[in-house]
Amino acid sequence: NDGGTVEISNKKEADSPVCIGREEDLKKQRTTAAINGREIVVLYHDGKFYAMDCRCYHAGGPLHLGEIEDINGQTCIICPWHKYKITLATGEGLYQAINPREPSVTPKWRSKGVKQRTHHVSVENGNVYVTLSDMADSIDSDYYAEKSINSSMKK
Ligand code: FES
Repeated sequence: NDGGTVEISNKKEADSPVCIGREEDLKKQRTTAAINGREIVVLYHDGKFYAMDCRCYHAGGPLHLGEIEDINGQTCIICPWHKYKITLATGEGLYQAINPREPSVTPKWRSKGVKQRTHHVSVENGNVYVTLSDMADSIDSDYYAEKSINSSMKK
């Protein structure tokens, strides 16, 4: 059960905080929301809220249904479709690499860089707010996020 989707349209400013729901509810259950048509997931893990684009940067998989795992000291969400690992805090894609020139063949975790757009979460008076990231650089997950915006505008 991924909770309901909250539809929020905040036309004045794309980057102002948008109330997603009550802190006590969001702590119990992951929530997806559409802010200006952009699908995000808000989740609570180990005392902290996180928000990121809901569609996985790889092929648009539903990250709100992913398991959370600690990988090499970083909390990651594992995409249910092809098991890509994405850090909750920064949206980096992690992969295991082997250096063929090294004698040891133990794979090491490496980062592909930021692949999934993360958004800012704040809590005020028991309400949880998300501010969409306004980072201008394009991030891989934008492709699927923008697809969802276009399809919701056609409705
Ligand atoms: Fe997420 Fe492929 S769609 S791992």
